Amino acid sequence: ALLGIDIGTSGCKALLIDADGAVLASCTETYGLSQPHPGWTEQDPQLWIEGARVAVAGILARKPDVEIVAVGLSGQMHGLTPLDEAHKVLRPAILWNDQRNGPECDEINERAGGIEGLLARTNNRMLVGYTGGKILWMRNNEPALFSRLRHVLNPKDYLRLVLTGELATEVSDASGTGLFDTRKRVWATGLLGLLGLDSSLLPPCHESHVVSGRVSKSGAALFGLPAGAPVVGGGGDSVIQTIGSGVIAPGELQTTIGTAGIVATALDEPVANPDGRLQVFCNVAPDKWHCMGVSLNAGGAMDWLRALLGSFAGGDTPSAERMVAIAAEAPVGSRGLLFLPYLNGERCPHPDPSARGGFVGLTARHGAADMARSVMEGVTHSLFDIYALMEKVGIGRTVIKASGGGARSALWRQMQADLFGCDVVTTEGAAEGGAFGAALIAGVGVGVWPSAIEAARSCRPVTRETADAAAGELLRKAFEIYGGLYGALVPSFA
Ligand code: XUL
Repeated sequence: ALLGIDIGTSGCKALLIDADGAVLASCTETYGLSQPHPGWTEQDPQLWIEGARVAVAGILARKPDVEIVAVGLSGQMHGLTPLDEAHKVLRPAILWNDQRNGPECDEINERAGGIEGLLARTNNRMLVGYTGGKILWMRNNEPALFSRLRHVLNPKDYLRLVLTGELATEVSDASGTGLFDTRKRVWATGLLGLLGLDSSLLPPCHESHVVSGRVSKSGAALFGLPAGAPVVGGGGDSVIQTIGSGVIAPGELQTTIGTAGIVATALDEPVANPDGRLQVFCNVAPDKWHCMGVSLNAGGAMDWLRALLGSFAGGDTPSAERMVAIAAEAPVGSRGLLFLPYLNGERCPHPDPSARGGFVGLTARHGAADMARSVMEGVTHSLFDIYALMEKVGIGRTVIKASGGGARSALWRQMQADLFGCDVVTTEGAAEGGAFGAALIAGVGVGVWPSAIEAARSCRPVTRETADAAAGELLRKAFEIYGGLYGALVPSFA
């Protein structure tokens, strides 16, 4: 069997699949994150190791006789795990959603010769979440610790170090540092020079399916895994989960409605990223690239409304299913009520931490059902708004493969089918996120599948929604108005 381990933001998932890609067992161990200051998010890397240990133990308890032939790793992207010479963790990891390093991103822009300079070197801008700005934040704010910094690892690669003793990464997570030449699939050494960073800070980088190490004796003792088992590179969660959803051919889109929202696709060439609003990364398939836009407000907006309605109804927060049932009582278009989901600022399509959300077009006849439906429609509009950027660089749409908690709602899948005007399917295993993709890539690494492309093709569809033309027309009219609201409301973002 093949084991995938995903170091998520809220927990670690271990997942076992067989050589047909069927899920045999999965186990999740949750952990917390700390917010020492507003906008900061940190995690002690030991939480990941302990989470992985417990999750793997859970799997092995359920399947004691299983033979694990390879391990694949996935994880939250962009996080900075700073290590000293002896591989000791210097400070808590700074996570992807940490907002502290705006000034360092400006500094990087300046040193690189503006956004154009960065795009020429990496095909990406340095977003606040990326690892590069976090390294400079340490240099500017914690100089004593920085002077001892010798190695920088993303979260899953720290697990690899503990599991195998190897310092290594792979092309998808490397892309998310903002310090990687995603066209040539090598570290952007010229950029590192401009930033005054020693390239030895970054680990050797391989293609994602390559065996990067083997479970060491100490790794075997800690995790209960067979010593010598091959560990492949794996991938950053939002990249590797496209493989797990079967998104590999041109025009196949993956949408994810989790706390955040993602639209992603696989590319045969690294498209030019015009003003850097999209993320153009290396795919876990060696001859492919990955393009995505990440909105910071998706399922989280629905959770906000749930909690809000609950607080008025005497503290009983309605379940997600109940909210969808309430929303289903309102007609398509929510009687003209529009919702802007920017409750936590925004990343894509508007890189604007000060963006704010809103209901627009409220009347006295609107009720809770209209509000609930317009939140779902607003989130769907924001996904389509991301896709509109992709369409401009020539990315088509033939089918949507929906994932994340929001994909459990048939209503939400139908809205996507109607607005995008194409079929929406869910696939087996997609709900398992990065861990499933990691297990598939582990299989590619040891020859169970000849390539990541073949592994992606093994994903079987479970549900299918087809576009309704009349609903689509209504939603696209609403989208035209939605598209103008951000610009009109900028003056109100204090
Ligand atoms: C991707 C991103 C998130 C994290 C969350 O760019 O920021 O998807 O990887 O796990």
